[in-house]
Amino acid sequence: MGPGLQDESVVSNKIAGGRSFENAFAAVRDATGLNVEYEVASGRRIRRVYLDSAATTLRLDLVQHVLNKFQPHYSNTHSLVHFGAQISTREYQWAHEMVLSFVGADPDQYFCFFTGSGATSGLNRVARALSRKRCERAVVITTVMEHHSNDLPHRAHFPRVIHVPALKSGRSLGCVDLAQLERALEHNSDSVNYVALSGVSNVTGIVNPIYEAATIAHRYGAMIVVDAAQMAAHLPIFMSRQGHTDASIDVIVFSGHKVYAPGSPGVVVARKELFSETPPQEVGGGMVDAVWIDRYAVSERFPDREEAGTPNITGAIGLAAVLYTFQAIGMEAIANEEQGLLRYALKKLLRVPGIIIYGETDTRICQRAGTIAFNIRDMDHALVAVLLNDYFNIAVRNECFCAHPYVRELIMASLSEDADVLDNEALEKLADKQRGMVRASFGIYTTEEDIDALIEALDDISLRRDFYAAKYGRLADGSYSSREFTFDHSKVFSIKNEIDRLLCGKI
Ligand code: ALA
Repeated sequence: MGPGLQDESVVSNKIAGGRSFENAFAAVRDATGLNVEYEVASGRRIRRVYLDSAATTLRLDLVQHVLNKFQPHYSNTHSLVHFGAQISTREYQWAHEMVLSFVGADPDQYFCFFTGSGATSGLNRVARALSRKRCERAVVITTVMEHHSNDLPHRAHFPRVIHVPALKSGRSLGCVDLAQLERALEHNSDSVNYVALSGVSNVTGIVNPIYEAATIAHRYGAMIVVDAAQMAAHLPIFMSRQGHTDASIDVIVFSGHKVYAPGSPGVVVARKELFSETPPQEVGGGMVDAVWIDRYAVSERFPDREEAGTPNITGAIGLAAVLYTFQAIGMEAIANEEQGLLRYALKKLLRVPGIIIYGETDTRICQRAGTIAFNIRDMDHALVAVLLNDYFNIAVRNECFCAHPYVRELIMASLSEDADVLDNEALEKLADKQRGMVRASFGIYTTEEDIDALIEALDDISLRRDFYAAKYGRLADGSYSSREFTFDHSKVFSIKNEIDRLLCGKI
């Protein structure tokens, strides 16, 4: 924990649960875009229901408040003396301390650095760093459940990547199969560099047992890297817990754009030893102590040596504002609220005619956070998603969510009800044909009314599917276009229009 952090966290002691929590929770839930209205296919202007937080969370008003206050001082963190630079530099440093505190990381052992585009850049950096640092261990174990960002970087930097399956749970899939993970570690005992596992799936929201996986990985000398992109805003995370050193996490990666902050500052929290004594991967200003024409001396300081160039200062400060607030009001309590909402959504969704929900839906068997992926039987996911948007102003994401292998596995598992009549080849063909789902994902601002709006819309779409389908044509890329309704985005917003209006009459 950084020096000022303990004193400044006193606010957390004031929110001791009960009414204080409820007041604080209500106060932080407002976000830019929650009340945005668009004109839908019926010609009415209605409020959008935002159910795409797994892709990008809306920006909380508290972040906007902090950034408005910060903007007049905004300066480069590499300038040191002037007042604006002092404010920017100190607050940017504090953002690192805040991240470490948020994930319970001991600053003597761990450090945090910000990277370019989201968790993807963080995971690429980690894969490259560990492939060099522990080059004698050439195998990475990951799972079929991963987003491509927690799969392809390992494939790019290691000769061998093993994908452990998800546990079968009836006709569904649950979390990672720990017995299979252990088997893979046993078979490759001295060669496994690390296990890379998502804390929460970006497709199903299924929560993985990261601490148990860490204990198993450490037993075989492997590190554990957790992709916490979908976890950080939804569940408490602990890098290390007293008395449970085996279950400590070695590296965690997440991103500001899934934690209500602006931009997409990637965040890496890692054990210092994994990034020391090897040259940093990115070089340039800020990570050196001295440069001569024929050589340069890399800084020994963390995180400077891993942060070449001017960082995403605004993104980091916005993110730190959220983490501080969440820590103050309590991540456990925030997670509990969301669990209630999730159970409400699952219960109601399961009643929609023809619904297929992917992954185990019994939260007593398998915990979920933030996300539910589904299809309506015999309807294309792309049509359902466009109808939700065009007629109901409900924002969801569809297709494969950058997790192709997992989506395929989930669809295969759901099709296995027909396994008696289909051979494996036919089943795979069918799975490929149906590839894709609709995903509804929640944020701290999501309400039961939002869920009710989704259910009402899905009931209507499912029951009147022929009426809707007749209004749409399928395009070559698999998306759908309305024969009656068009949305011209530039009538709502375009950079050029905004600037033209601003400059009108001035030039
Ligand atoms: N990775 C983001 C998602 O799951 C974009 O939607």
